Amino acid sequence: MQIVILADAIQIAQYGADLIHKQISAKPCSVLGLATGSTPVALYGELIEANRSGVLSFQSVSTFNLDEYLGLEGSHPQSYRHFMNEHLFKHIDINIHNTAVPPGNAANPIDACRDYEARIEAKGGIDIQLLGIGRNGHIGFNEPSSGLTSRTRVKTLTQATIADNARFFAEGEYQPHLSMTMGIGTIMDSRKVILLATGASKADAIKATVEGPLMASCPASALQMHRDAVLVLDEAAASKLSDREFYKHIERENQKLLAQLGI
Ligand code: PGA
Repeated sequence: MQIVILADAIQIAQYGADLIHKQISAKPCSVLGLATGSTPVALYGELIEANRSGVLSFQSVSTFNLDEYLGLEGSHPQSYRHFMNEHLFKHIDINIHNTAVPPGNAANPIDACRDYEARIEAKGGIDIQLLGIGRNGHIGFNEPSSGLTSRTRVKTLTQATIADNARFFAEGEYQPHLSMTMGIGTIMDSRKVILLATGASKADAIKATVEGPLMASCPASALQMHRDAVLVLDEAAASKLSDREFYKHIERENQKLLAQLGI
């Protein structure tokens, strides 16, 4: 894992957007795995800005989102399809038909999950998967105890996740307790992973992800087995890492090497 510790959320957004920008420049028909939540919003802002200024085009890009609430139509204001349209897709030159979010309203969600996997495979797999992390270490809606090789499926949300996401729902509004989510195995198959985390509330989850054992009770710890996972953290999210200074040293050395090589 590459651990990058930066001063603030703005630098994190710029760092993550730069990796995605480089990916699309190298391969215009890239397949991106995208995430919802508050953490990636600033990164999407950077991508929108790059698209507006003409330095980055999404015309040939395809996307697959990690997850969706089961039982919500894509037009529902709390659906992740709606979130993606509002925070990214409607502001960039992407072909909306090349953007996929698990269909939360599918008549047969089990078949729809299988179909989602098949669609990812048919596109040649995911080049870069963007992730946030839950306070309980979840990635996507893979809650603690999720199988480390799981595929896209229906998952029950924990009370902690329901409580964390209640802020997005109005008082008395129906809040789903089930989701469709890419599995940990699906995420692990992506060629590169970028996980963003900000704030002290994520410090325990980041500690368990980076320095804890590989275990289903911290789903993000599976990234220890990923061939190319980059964790981009602010100081608060990194604050419980025992080897924080060492990770910073490694990153400085990496940057020096890249500069020497002119990359
Ligand atoms: P957040 O959610 O970005 O809103 O903190 C992250 C997650 O639950 O995966």
